[in-house]
Amino acid sequence: MKLGVAKNKKKILVSGYNNNMVIHPMWLRERVTDAKYFDKNNGQRLYDPSKIKKNIKIERALIKNKFLNIKFSDGVQSDYFIKDLINEINKNSFQKNLKLWNSNIKYKPIYKYEKNLFNSKRGLKVIKDFYKFGFSIIKKTPVKKNYILNFANSLGILRKTNFGKLFNVRSVRKASDLAYTSHALAAHTDNPYRRPIPGIQILHCLKNDSIGGHSTLTDGFAVVEYMRKKYPKYFKILSSVKIRFSYQDKNTYLENWGETIQLDSDNTIKRVRLSPRLDYVQVFKKDKLDQFYKARSLFIKLCNSKKFMIEFKLSPGDMMLMDNYRTLHGRTKYDMSVGERHLQGCYIEHDSVESKMKKLEANS
Ligand SMILES: [Fe+2]
Repeated sequence: MKLGVAKNKKKILVSGYNNNMVIHPMWLRERVTDAKYFDKNNGQRLYDPSKIKKNIKIERALIKNKFLNIKFSDGVQSDYFIKDLINEINKNSFQKNLKLWNSNIKYKPIYKYEKNLFNSKRGLKVIKDFYKFGFSIIKKTPVKKNYILNFANSLGILRKTNFGKLFNVRSVRKASDLAYTSHALAAHTDNPYRRPIPGIQILHCLKNDSIGGHSTLTDGFAVVEYMRKKYPKYFKILSSVKIRFSYQDKNTYLENWGETIQLDSDNTIKRVRLSPRLDYVQVFKKDKLDQFYKARSLFIKLCNSKKFMIEFKLSPGDMMLMDNYRTLHGRTKYDMSVGERHLQGCYIEHDSVESKMKKLEANS
């Protein structure tokens, strides 16, 4: 991509993007970063851009070395670092560097723990891979109760819920959730009834010497792309019907609505929601519900299939991160009479982890 000035010095052109597009003068004017207009400490404008004259024009533009100097018709003059401007032009909310996978996955994002991991270049690689694959496992973290909170805080900002800052996954009597029993758990995303839905789930293995109790992961996006190609009708119904997800106990009543497959406006996948134990579809006509039930059954079947699901056993010290908007998780049943299985879990939010990633990237 190249930036240039038109012969009359009154237009900024960008080539390699929509065939020599002229950049709107307002777009440039509201990106002036001089101290009078922009607070460098927080990246915020010091004025309301709607107050800039609508017919703002470029009076004169010049490129000198690596800078573009523009004088606007309202008298404001500013230097832009061309590289920054090109980066800004390239910013696109749909940019995603994803590697979809199925059970043939060759490279798994598995790392060995080290102190201050998320203040290092290696930490940046861990986070980038997490976003690429939708999960990662960090091995040999301290096997200490509640250590997960230190870990979570070193990576992002913790999301407290009605279960507290963290939850313990082990069998208890009168369990408030099936997770706290020894039953098998089919592939699902967590807590689709919350608003917003927790972005990232972390699970820390403290003990796992029972028989069974293997963890499972499925790349929900890979399953969706498969359905989009092979079963377009079912894909369409799952990406258009909004479902009510609900959780209730003695003190809590949570509810949220959303599609099983949520798409972005460019039709890429934004997120998946699957939690068949607590989803309630609206009362549509029989034909539509027939289609919906078939589509949901197929999605569940694929998410739990040998083709898409990986299965492994977590060891004490393993810290598993899962993108709750993309990766489905589950576990096989385990025998409570032998050994013990104890995991601790918590949630953190995407924006805080992405912030960490961007800061580490800027400093590397
Ligand atoms: Fe879960």
